[in-house]
Amino acid sequence: MRERLEQLNKEALEELCHIGNSQLVQDLRVKYLGKKGRLTEILRGMGKLSAEERPIIGQLANTVRENIEQKLEEVKVAIEKKEIEAKLQRESLDVTLPGRPIQVGNRHPLTLVIEQIEDVFLGMGFTVAEGFEVEQDYYNFEALNLPKDHPARDMQDSFYITEEILMRTHTSPVQARTMEKMEGEVPVKIICPGRVYRRDNDDATHSHVFTQIEGLMVGENVRMSDLKGVLLEFAQQMFGENAGIRLRPSFFPFTEPSAEVDVTCMCGGEGCKICKNTGWIEVLGSGMVHPRVLEMAGYDSEKYTGFAFGLGVERIAMKKYDIDDIRQFYTNDLRFLKQFNRV
Ligand code: DAH
Repeated sequence: MRERLEQLNKEALEELCHIGNSQLVQDLRVKYLGKKGRLTEILRGMGKLSAEERPIIGQLANTVRENIEQKLEEVKVAIEKKEIEAKLQRESLDVTLPGRPIQVGNRHPLTLVIEQIEDVFLGMGFTVAEGFEVEQDYYNFEALNLPKDHPARDMQDSFYITEEILMRTHTSPVQARTMEKMEGEVPVKIICPGRVYRRDNDDATHSHVFTQIEGLMVGENVRMSDLKGVLLEFAQQMFGENAGIRLRPSFFPFTEPSAEVDVTCMCGGEGCKICKNTGWIEVLGSGMVHPRVLEMAGYDSEKYTGFAFGLGVERIAMKKYDIDDIRQFYTNDLRFLKQFNRV
């Protein structure tokens, strides 16, 4: 039995010298010292020993157990140290590597132009209102004096969702909604930027989605001259202090009289390719709010008057940045978008 114990001692220490990971340490602990391990197996023969031999062998067995345990511990510590070092090595960071540049976005050219226009009107005491892109037929047409089957509806081919709901064809429904919400209070003085939708075949100058800014002012004694004054101020702030405006008679069902407004071109009126040598660029539709529109929204048209206008943002952005294809605004080509700085 003594030889068996000594042999076990030798074998265990020998085997422990050759192992390489901490899981094996645990396996060997079980193999040699576990309940069903080699040492226990040898000690099962203790009963057969004489009374003198038993304490001696018992002591030897304890020594062997201690030897193995100590070795196990030593090996375990050494392996863990090695494993930690290997992990540190694996996960080491090279702080001298150059960083990856973060892509910085910039604002969309339409956003830039909208913000610029908003600033101009905020400066004149207007506030910014919001409407819905999915709109009721009532607000998009009827409340604007465009009853069902009115021929002027043909001017705006529409995307209908149901009989009564459509993608708004212009931002003008915000006029009716705002006046309804104000419940007859004056002054009403809002602008409303937003997307609008029309059934159109997309090409360089047409897009089925585009952006408008609506304007509305209602109060006592609001006159056509106020409209002209506000639009002239707008033109001069947007296009330079020498810019002028020109009103041409037009027709919109929700205004009477109605006018289309041109602004002096950036060329100063001399004529260039942008204005096709006319010296003017057409920027908006406008007029005095039709009495029926005021009445439908709950305003007394004998007491109050108002003006309204709707301008196309893409048209202005295209002139301002010399962009020749309206689809550029909606196809989101980064090479295009990156040309607009963040001011
Ligand atoms: N809603 C018109 C359009 O989309 C533009 C317009 C014209 C708006 C005259 C107005 C206005 O507010 O008074 O063509």
